[in-house]
Amino acid sequence: MAEKRGSHAHALTPPTETRITEVVFPQQLNHHGTLFGGEALSMMDRAAFIAATRRCRSEAVTIAVEQVDYVAPVRHGEIVEVLAHVVATGRTSITVEVSMVGEELLSGQRRLCGTGRFVFVAVDDDGQPIPVRPLAQ
Ligand SMILES: CC(C)(COP(=O)(O)OP(=O)(O)OC[C@H]1O[C@@H](n2cnc3c(N)ncnc32)[C@H](O)[C@@H]1OP(=O)(O)O)[C@@H](O)C(=O)NCCC(=O)NCCS
Repeated sequence: MAEKRGSHAHALTPPTETRITEVVFPQQLNHHGTLFGGEALSMMDRAAFIAATRRCRSEAVTIAVEQVDYVAPVRHGEIVEVLAHVVATGRTSITVEVSMVGEELLSGQRRLCGTGRFVFVAVDDDGQPIPVRPLAQ
């Protein structure tokens, strides 16, 4: 029988690390047949956004992409996994580091394919910066 929803549902604690996992499909490739850099950047920004939002629990906007390094290609048909975690907070800003891993579907062999560092600002309904919960808390 399906679990009852609503007040009887179990409350789950949000994870401390954010992961987005996908399989690389043809429409995500560049002309070399590997994951297009813009697709990788989009995945990294989305994972970083979720990690930042889990910290501030308000709207958040990307204010800076401080560094992105593509260290190895992710190939068509591989699993691509992006892991994001908050590494610093300021008064209104949240810095998130991201790593992108390529994983061969059948062997399970994994390698680091990219890293990135993104800065977000927590904003109110008017888009104005608001204080964030410090990382130590
Ligand atoms: C986010 C926004 C409201 C911030 O406004 P602002 O007047 O620049 O705000 P502030 O100068 O007070 O800076 C806010 C925080 O961001 C930090 N910051 C500003 N520019 C930064 C940069 N280039 N790199 C890193 N951090 C930066 C500041 O140090 C400050 O951090 P702190 O409060 O932790 O000390 C405004 O810049 C904005 O709306 N930008 C567009 C965001 C957007 O559309 N993103 C989507 C990208 S397509």
